[in-house]
Amino acid sequence: MKNLALFASGSGSNVERFVEYFRDSDFINIKLILCNNPQAGVIERAKRLNVPLVLFDRAQFKSDAIVEILQDNQIDWVILAGFLWLIPQNLVAAYPNRIVNIHPALLPKFGGKGMYGHFVHEAVVANQETESGITIHYVNEHYDEGTVIFQASYPVLPSDSPEDVAKKGQVLEHKHFPEVVEQLVKSEQ
Ligand code: GAR
Repeated sequence: MKNLALFASGSGSNVERFVEYFRDSDFINIKLILCNNPQAGVIERAKRLNVPLVLFDRAQFKSDAIVEILQDNQIDWVILAGFLWLIPQNLVAAYPNRIVNIHPALLPKFGGKGMYGHFVHEAVVANQETESGITIHYVNEHYDEGTVIFQASYPVLPSDSPEDVAKKGQVLEHKHFPEVVEQLVKSEQ
């Protein structure tokens, strides 16, 4: 069994998809959810889904505390599902090529510090893009720069609002993110 830890800062709809998708898996176990935001919707979801959640602050994140929690829980892979802080070097080093992020755009477009969530969708509309998409990639110590694993795209219509774009992206995220991670974990055996 491979143990996954999911990091989230917000609503946690992708976290919920992961928990549902792997609920009956005999290969992947969603062991732990980690959250940096005491107001995040993912906290209620974790309770409802009955998955342990660890809330942490910036000082803990910058210390060795998080790596120790991951190791104590025998975590094999770290999945960033809407997590907004830059991953520190000690965590990258503890999980080389075992940290995966999802980004709501076609990287390298609309990535980098401050480009997350609705800011991305607003920029896509303001830039009159005709398509956008999602990117699943390995995580290194720079925002949104790790090797791309998977991308999927959707058309952006002139009439689309940032909310419309966000919805199209979320459909693709929920469809592909757990499947891509499943394939990745299986292929790295
Ligand atoms: C997702 O759309 C994800 O791609 C994005 O945050 C959202 C979280 O939604 N991540 C980033 O912007 C990272 N730079 P969720 O909390 O409903 O899963």
